[in-house]
Amino acid sequence: MAYYFDEPSHTFGEYLLVPGYSSTDCVPTNVNLQTPLVKFKKGEQSPIRLNIPLVSAIMQAVSDDKMAIALAREGGLSFIYGSQSIADEAAMVARVKSYKAGFVTSDSNIKPDQTLEDVLALTQRTGHSTIAVTEDGSANGKLLGIVTSRDYRVSRMPLDLKVSEFMTKFEDLICADETTSLKTANDIIWEHKLNSLPLVDKQGHLKYMVFRKDYASHKENENELLDSHKRYMVGAGINTRDFAERVPALVEAGADVLCIDSSEGFTEWQKITIDFIRQKYGDTVKVGAGNVVDKEGFLFLAKAGADFVKVGIGGGSICITREQKGIGRGQATALIEVVKARDEYFEETGVYVPVCSDGGIVYDYHMTLALAMGADFIMLGRYFSRFDESPTNRVMVNGTYMKEYWGEGSNRARNWQRYDMGGDKKLSFEEGVDSYVPYAGSLKDNVTLSLNKVRSTMCNCGVLSIPELQRNARITLVSATSIVEGGSHDVVLKDSNISGYSYK
Ligand code: IMP
Repeated sequence: MAYYFDEPSHTFGEYLLVPGYSSTDCVPTNVNLQTPLVKFKKGEQSPIRLNIPLVSAIMQAVSDDKMAIALAREGGLSFIYGSQSIADEAAMVARVKSYKAGFVTSDSNIKPDQTLEDVLALTQRTGHSTIAVTEDGSANGKLLGIVTSRDYRVSRMPLDLKVSEFMTKFEDLICADETTSLKTANDIIWEHKLNSLPLVDKQGHLKYMVFRKDYASHKENENELLDSHKRYMVGAGINTRDFAERVPALVEAGADVLCIDSSEGFTEWQKITIDFIRQKYGDTVKVGAGNVVDKEGFLFLAKAGADFVKVGIGGGSICITREQKGIGRGQATALIEVVKARDEYFEETGVYVPVCSDGGIVYDYHMTLALAMGADFIMLGRYFSRFDESPTNRVMVNGTYMKEYWGEGSNRARNWQRYDMGGDKKLSFEEGVDSYVPYAGSLKDNVTLSLNKVRSTMCNCGVLSIPELQRNARITLVSATSIVEGGSHDVVLKDSNISGYSYK
């Protein structure tokens, strides 16, 4: 007879935190959000600690080098998506590691024979008004000119006018050599009243742009997640198929931590992948594994040597795994069981294997709940996909700005390795959808707001750190009726923007 679990499986929206006693020290500025990323022995500290408990999902629509830089600046970490060629993924990792604050790789580039219409479409898509005109339209091509909104008037110029006809030409631009320091670059910007300064190499290829508007953000952020050489830290996704080639390339490029990206990780494939890494690199290369939803899955991966274990099947916003295959478990129930297994494993072996709750965060308070339930850190896809820094297009849908967001198991991403159970190397059916999410602005503004809520709730619970929250939180399951009571009710709202959706 099949095994039946005693409890129904629950998700975050079915729980609330019950406040505890708060002393006068319990103020948000005293809250410490540091948390371990990889395993460590009793009495020691994790060799990699995050300064905030957020990591961005291993997805094409979420984690590229730009996202990684923005998130590391706030103290979190991105896992660069693995559903691209090994060379492209390694190049993204390398760009994060070689990033110099204030020096931006241009993301709006065009060729001289493109048109004003293309310029308008590009501006709309990226939200940026400074466009580099390069010979091949790439970010590091030979620089021929710059287009900004000062170069064109839509009402007076035909849409098919060639970029070369109205751009500010290279010979009229003020540029600087690629070796220029940030201070000198800012002095030039100031002296010549510029909005941006292109830095070029000896052959005239564009290397970076320095923007006047970024001046304030160059100042150091105390939470930045840096390695011992003061470079931003970055993670990278791998799969259980091409690891023998992909892992060395990512390690060479400077990845600080790897994660096996799989929709279901209680498999021999994961052990084989971890074994390969241990044989080649010992413990020097850190690798997380997953995803699992129960004690057995956690113990299998912990014993296989995973540096952290990721929890969650079927709870992601773009995920249709439960509909397609009927597998999964309510995210909260899965997390609670895995956390218990982690604590027992720690008791028995003295090894603490951090747990990551992956997917299904809708409201900001779900982050606090996940941490209170014992997650050491949280992986989010939808949340980060809404920001300026995500790799996807910003589009106007019914008068509202949206960003595109698609699952790794959708036809668009075609990341068959993530769903691979051996056999045919192709996606025979989809496990994810292609969607829009409301555009929400900058990562910094949103993460600051979300974490202010987390800190504030922690103070309500009378705790000042994540381990204290995990030990002392009091959590209650709520009835369907009290969920209704939790939203505004029995009133007519004047402004629908205060409905409490985290993305409003
Ligand atoms: P979200 O934060 O709720 O959007 O969930 C993001 C998580 O969904 C990712 O970290 C993955 O674990 C998972 N995921 C990504 N793509 C797919 C897919 O196509 N199908 C199912 N799950 C996915």
